[in-house]
Amino acid sequence: MQNISFYNGIEMPLVGLGVFRVEDELMDQVIESAYENGYRHFDTAQMYRNEKSLGRAWKRLNVPREELLITTKIDNVNQGYEKTLKSFKQSCQDLQVDYVDQLLIHWPGQNPQRTADTWKAFEKLYEEGLVKVIGLSNFTLKHIEIIEKTRNIKPMSNQIERNPLITQLELIPALQAKNIIPIAWAPLRRGNFLNDVIIKIAEKYNKTPAQIVLRWNIESNVMVIPRSKNPERQLENIKLFDFKLTEAEIAEINALHTGERTSFDPVTYDF
Ligand SMILES: NC(=O)c1ccc[n+]([C@@H]2O[C@H](COP(=O)([O-])OP(=O)(O)OC[C@H]3O[C@@H](n4cnc5c(N)ncnc54)[C@H](OP(=O)(O)O)[C@@H]3O)[C@@H](O)[C@H]2O)c1
Repeated sequence: MQNISFYNGIEMPLVGLGVFRVEDELMDQVIESAYENGYRHFDTAQMYRNEKSLGRAWKRLNVPREELLITTKIDNVNQGYEKTLKSFKQSCQDLQVDYVDQLLIHWPGQNPQRTADTWKAFEKLYEEGLVKVIGLSNFTLKHIEIIEKTRNIKPMSNQIERNPLITQLELIPALQAKNIIPIAWAPLRRGNFLNDVIIKIAEKYNKTPAQIVLRWNIESNVMVIPRSKNPERQLENIKLFDFKLTEAEIAEINALHTGERTSFDPVTYDF
């Protein structure tokens, strides 16, 4: 497994496990098989309502805390300076950790003051060593500008929807130019990622279509957090480092872009 470095020197594996919609009663077995398959980074959020079961599941593994990396995200209703700090405390309790590896603002929203205040709280948590990497999610460049106006510490990551139908070919290099690591959420389009181009490339390399879609992210230094509850597919999704796509294949996948999202557009949507 290859790692990627944030600008502050912290490293994380290029592949992590997303746990959105992993039910509480399944979490133990999902985390156990993921760990056995080599996953060390788990991505949750306050909004997923499963921080408690993730906390219980990783404790059951009985491995040192430093071996695992945990990302969580501040829910929209918990944004703002005081509410961020308070809800972060609750997240740590639920996750049974005394620090979090990565903390993200889940959704930018349409209130610049709220965004700036939330980021102030993130800086405090970072300075106190309670969070190792502070970042964003679903932020456009315009949203990032809000933070750039008032920040002391630059954002380190931005988790965005990315798959062959929403390639983010402008945003990704712009983030990388700012030393912000892009992370692809729903990299498998929530299970709906098959098409002729992907299948043809998969056949050439004797890989699965999912591996092609995930590898396409790795080629651009984009971290991926695919979700699978299935141990075989978990293993498949992490075995991405023994082949390479050609420039022409990357261009063919890029050309599949239609702009279709599986979720809301952060430019207009708030909640
Ligand atoms: N920041 C945000 O706003 C945001 C939004 C959404 C998601 N996320 C994060 O991103 C993670 C991933 O996104 P996601 O969970 O929405 O969707 P996803 O990872 O794109 O897709 C998950 C679906 O694909 C299936 N799948 C997994 N591996 C497969 C394979 N090798 N072959 C065929 N099917 C496969 C899974 O089914 P099985 O379980 O049966 O394998 C599941 O139905 C989330 O879990 C969450 O942590 C963040």
